[in-house]
Amino acid sequence: MTPGATMSDETLSNLLHEKRTFAPPASLVAAANVTQADYDEAARDRLAFWAKQAQRLTWAEPFTEVLDDSNPPFYRWFADGKLNAAYNCVDRHVEAGKGDKVALHWVGEPLEDTRDLTYADLQREVSKAANAYESLGVGAGDCVAIYMPMIPEAIVAMLAAARIGAIHTVVFGGFSAEALAARVEDCGAKLIVTSDGGYRRGAASALKPAVDEAIQKVEAVSPGQVENVLVVRRTGQEVAFDPSIDTWWHETVDSASDQHTPEAFEAEHPLYVMYTSGTTGKPKGIKHTTGGYLTQAAYTHWAQFDLKPETDVYWCTADIGWVTGHSYIVYGPLANGATQVLYEGTPDAPERGRWWKIIQDYKVSLFYTAPTAIRSFMKQGDTVPASYDLSSLRVIGSVGEPINPEAYVWYRTVIGGSGNGGEGTPIIDTWWQTETGATMMTPLPGVTAGKPGSAMLAVPGIEVDVVNDEGVPVGDGQGGYLVVTSPWPSMLRTIWGDDERYVDTYWSRFKEQGYYFAGDGAKKDEDGDIWVLGRVDDVMNVSGHRLSTTEIESALVSHPMVAEAAVVGATDPDTGQAPVAYVILRESAGDGGADIAKVLSDHVRSEIGPIAKPRQIMIVPELPKTRSGKIMRRLLRDVAEKRVVGDTTTLADAGIMDLIAAGAATST
Ligand code: WTA
Repeated sequence: MTPGATMSDETLSNLLHEKRTFAPPASLVAAANVTQADYDEAARDRLAFWAKQAQRLTWAEPFTEVLDDSNPPFYRWFADGKLNAAYNCVDRHVEAGKGDKVALHWVGEPLEDTRDLTYADLQREVSKAANAYESLGVGAGDCVAIYMPMIPEAIVAMLAAARIGAIHTVVFGGFSAEALAARVEDCGAKLIVTSDGGYRRGAASALKPAVDEAIQKVEAVSPGQVENVLVVRRTGQEVAFDPSIDTWWHETVDSASDQHTPEAFEAEHPLYVMYTSGTTGKPKGIKHTTGGYLTQAAYTHWAQFDLKPETDVYWCTADIGWVTGHSYIVYGPLANGATQVLYEGTPDAPERGRWWKIIQDYKVSLFYTAPTAIRSFMKQGDTVPASYDLSSLRVIGSVGEPINPEAYVWYRTVIGGSGNGGEGTPIIDTWWQTETGATMMTPLPGVTAGKPGSAMLAVPGIEVDVVNDEGVPVGDGQGGYLVVTSPWPSMLRTIWGDDERYVDTYWSRFKEQGYYFAGDGAKKDEDGDIWVLGRVDDVMNVSGHRLSTTEIESALVSHPMVAEAAVVGATDPDTGQAPVAYVILRESAGDGGADIAKVLSDHVRSEIGPIAKPRQIMIVPELPKTRSGKIMRRLLRDVAEKRVVGDTTTLADAGIMDLIAAGAATST
């Protein structure tokens, strides 16, 4: 595929005509954590730079080797050092006399439902949970699945696993029972931590029933695997409770001792597995380990937000079910001893200004969100944020998808306009992936003048490039594939249980050069700054959430009425991209009935989750295929994006596109 193929030509050319820049505010430059000298230092000796950054952590046993690259692409960082991730995120701050410092300002969705946890509180809670896990037979190397709303116990559950060397896998609460079961089974979790439910859009929404259903599915293939379910009571809603497997958190954890001695683990001890969509139907379990991951998460969080831990209040709006929540709610900020806001609910509950009210109430100074949220606020207009005091903001961030220049400028002026004493608030457009573990590219707020829509350049110590099909770096003004040209501390170590797929997916495309293939298209502008243009594979980005076309196709085909399905990611003004599905029904299904689109859409929802629901489902008589049988998604994307259908000469049956395009024009 050609780079940038998932973006329309119009978007692309708009981006490349964007010439505005925003210089860093003088007050920020004057006291910036990172300056040009840091880039120079890292460029002189990358490994020495990372060895120095690793000293942000407390090591139980120091490392002697920074990078072991003897068996690429299975790189190891700080491998002979030992440390405990939870100790680094919690205990050492208490030992340093910061036990009374607020770690979490938790804000529940119902108004006035708030709770502050200090670092000392967190130490007690994590210790109790670690003791409870051990009493449930969980130990180092075991896997704990976490399926929770955004409540403090979710963070405690993650850190408790890390504390005892257990590997956590957090499954986004919006995923279905089916998706949860697949992940629980793939990583072999023996404990699931969940809650009765959480608050979303003003109402209690249930989680526990999905766990019950998932366990039945796991039991069918792997009997006895899940030994315990630990349930937090959050909403008080009625739940089914099976005492042979279910345990209440408020009984088991609350009664456990709050004294627990953390053990040091090797730097390469696995910390967590995070599932993400790949180009095939089966989600990939991305494996992250301890020392290198924590080093880069802590360094980038400190560098990109210009974090001043004693005075800043930080807030990242991501869910802990995604990698952003792992690196920039849990591990980065807590390793840095930051004070942060954790919000449970939706942005518009109970009213549209909820986020801005939280910024005002807690004097949030560092804020991190996604372009899809910014676009939805932009649609609501300027008056909602204008009625709140947002002058506490110093640095605001964006992650998850390319931010369109208009959204960038709105974010900078309407949300960030009064920050830094009225000088305005720099935007960090951070490019990274589940696989990279932490930020790889972003302008730094005290150094680089931001360009709307561009992630611009690698962070110190990281090396990226844009290359052509042959792996040769492209010149300024040209496009190609985004690659990482040397290993980095927080890189994924493998795909859980599938080393071969790890090598194939990321390291075979530019094998000769030894480059990591990110799957994104990018362009260097005339100044050599990098603009990420979007995926070049069959992965789409819906509201910053990664979904694979194949995953949704598999879900559709699992419905008894469906014979075949093709899904494409179409450009969408609100969500960035949206799934559009073309479905061939089985003969036995007839025309499927009047509500066929709804039936299939509900089916996808229950197979994967609401985020995967197609924006449009079209019933078609045939799919456009090449003579060798490959579906030509490019043509389907043309129809979905309402463009003139492109070159059809390689189609086995050229007439088919006329039929599909005619059908699309009349369907809803
Ligand atoms: C996209 C989220 C442009 C990109 C941390 C990447 C971005 C995928 C940006 C990873 C950005 C993320 N500009 N595109 N600043 N940030 N992306 O694994 O396509 O959920 O490959 O990680 O999101 O998504 P993931």
